[in-house]
Amino acid sequence: MKVAVLYGGTSSERPVSLVSGEAAISALREKGHDVTPVDVGSDIAVTIQALKAAAPDVVFNALHGPKGEDGAIQGVLEWLNLPYTHSGIRASAVAMDKGATRILLAAAGLPVAEGRVVTVAELAEADPLPVPYVIKPVAEGSSVGVEIIRAGDNRRAEIARAWRFGKEALVESFIPGRELTAGVMGDHALAVTDILPAETAAFYDFEAKYKAGGSCHVVPADLPADVTKRALDYALRAHQTLGCAGASRTDFRYDDETDTLIILEVNTQPGMTPTSLLPEQAAYCGISYPDLCDWMVREALN
Ligand code: DAL
Ligand code: MG
Repeated sequence: MKVAVLYGGTSSERPVSLVSGEAAISALREKGHDVTPVDVGSDIAVTIQALKAAAPDVVFNALHGPKGEDGAIQGVLEWLNLPYTHSGIRASAVAMDKGATRILLAAAGLPVAEGRVVTVAELAEADPLPVPYVIKPVAEGSSVGVEIIRAGDNRRAEIARAWRFGKEALVESFIPGRELTAGVMGDHALAVTDILPAETAAFYDFEAKYKAGGSCHVVPADLPADVTKRALDYALRAHQTLGCAGASRTDFRYDDETDTLIILEVNTQPGMTPTSLLPEQAAYCGISYPDLCDWMVREALN
């Protein structure tokens, strides 16, 4: 098949996407596809031209973050009548908006933490929730901009002043315990991974995500069978509730003490780097990285 791989992009996750893209390009070539890499920059006209010249059967979307994961590039591909991997416009736009995602998931009976979207002016005024709580950009990935406010921490006003992610922020109660994640391929959830940040990391932040040795992934997570079952069920239902296509990955917090499992977010463009979670879960299920990429392009044509 002729496959164009879109990677890079202009979001803060560009470095991650470059690694996801390079890995997907090699894997798709290994599977015998005729691959055209398209590094997406700030001029969309250049990308459109490259896609028209390549005339692919399908586009592999390896972009992450705003404009690559939020429906924007998906809209361009719809205009070009090119089939593409992962979710369509609507699911991408909703999942990229953590405030909208919370509302839809809760309406479907899925568990989310207490929280809401606040204006940065409100955040500068007072604590929006009892401590500890998390402040995060409404539409970023890879933990970019995420802050945890604990008892006695007086950085709130300063964080609000320096906020560079628009006029709003999402605040959510901090759930102690573990960070779990479960990937979905089509109509089944793969496995649950327990993510243990290195001792030095405050939480599963950008460094912990991408630096070698920054975190340790345990797949399958060592959990009671019913918790694993719940997480897999929630991941699949979250994927379906948002109307996702292809693969997605749902992130959770789990507190062993209170048996609380809540959904943090749904990633419609899960990382595809060699240390990424979805490829590890696929491998655990017997699906190699090249086979995962191959499944993605075939699924896009279904
Ligand atoms: N946002 C990163 C790429 C992920 O969810 O894997
Ligand atoms: Mg994300």
